[in-house]
Amino acid sequence: MERILSGIKPTGQLTLGNYIGALRHFKDFQDKGEVFIFIADLHALTLPIDPEVLRNNTRDIAAFYLASGLDPKKTTIFLQSSVSAHAELNAIAQNYLYMGELSRMTQFKDKSAKMNDKEIGLGLFAYPVLMAADIVLYDADTIPVGEDQLQHIELCRDLVHRMNHKYGTKDHDLLVMPKGSVSKVGKRIMSLSDPTKKMSKSDPKGDIFLKDDMKTIRKKIMSAVTDMEANVYYDPENKPGVSNLLTIYAALNDISIEEAAEHFKGCTRYGDFKKEVADTVERELAPFKARYEEIIASGEYIEVLKDGAKRASEVANKTLKRVQNAVGLLTLE
Ligand code: TYM
Repeated sequence: MERILSGIKPTGQLTLGNYIGALRHFKDFQDKGEVFIFIADLHALTLPIDPEVLRNNTRDIAAFYLASGLDPKKTTIFLQSSVSAHAELNAIAQNYLYMGELSRMTQFKDKSAKMNDKEIGLGLFAYPVLMAADIVLYDADTIPVGEDQLQHIELCRDLVHRMNHKYGTKDHDLLVMPKGSVSKVGKRIMSLSDPTKKMSKSDPKGDIFLKDDMKTIRKKIMSAVTDMEANVYYDPENKPGVSNLLTIYAALNDISIEEAAEHFKGCTRYGDFKKEVADTVERELAPFKARYEEIIASGEYIEVLKDGAKRASEVANKTLKRVQNAVGLLTLE
């Protein structure tokens, strides 16, 4: 049976980009295979974060997972830090990924470029090692993510290739080779205030946060940067703002970009166009947000995470044993 795994890190407020590029799709896999969805809280420590903020963001993601339609009976939902095998496999895997390849990671280059050398932790540099451990622990085949994570998944594939070559046998691979899966529409949602930049959790200007109230969300959409042409069509190079709004509209209506462009053909008033995009976003997010509030108030995510940790540990510990044994660690059983 196909194994699907993905995670979101609780570094900041979740955005519409996280929702469209990843979160919204997780539930679609529930009836296709065995799904593991986790909160990458250890990864959140790779940049400075206040402990209380981290805890609150973590609760938020748990509630967002449930609000998005993930059913804990079908999907194993858990916290990365509550399954110790992640850190243990990380300690092994770090010996099979190399400094040169880690230093070429776009995310590391972007993030470290904004920091003083003295503040760049080893964890930020080694981020993709832990991510590779997350993936291989569950023998995952399919990793639904936004486009920005594909480079990390490629590195994970290199790790799998390397370890299989060294420790696999003719008949048995040690690790399962994963592949990234990005959605056709919305794999990279851009900022509303600067549509040449990715919408991201650490850039509050022009980003729609899932916790913003509907009025704020509508306001952000109505004031999204566009262009002077007053004609709605898809051309990401010359009309990045309009193209981004078209993408959001298409993704949330489950239609293609071409269909969305056709729908707005002849529309010469950006105000009308934006209003329809805002209506679509509201139709999708209003019930989702209401459900999120209920889950936070009831605290039902706590039991879900406890149960998820047990189920995830069972699977992860088996892989860990297999790897420990393969690399030559003496297991005393
Ligand atoms: P994170 O927390 O940065 O983002 C969570 C997911 O949201 C996607 N995403 C976007 N998609 C479209 N448009 C955007 N503007 C946008 N911004 C973010 C991301 O691609 C991601 O899928 N390293 C991961 C967390 C992680 C993980 C893993 C994921 C840790 N271990 C193992 C998969 C498998 C991350 O930081 O995602």
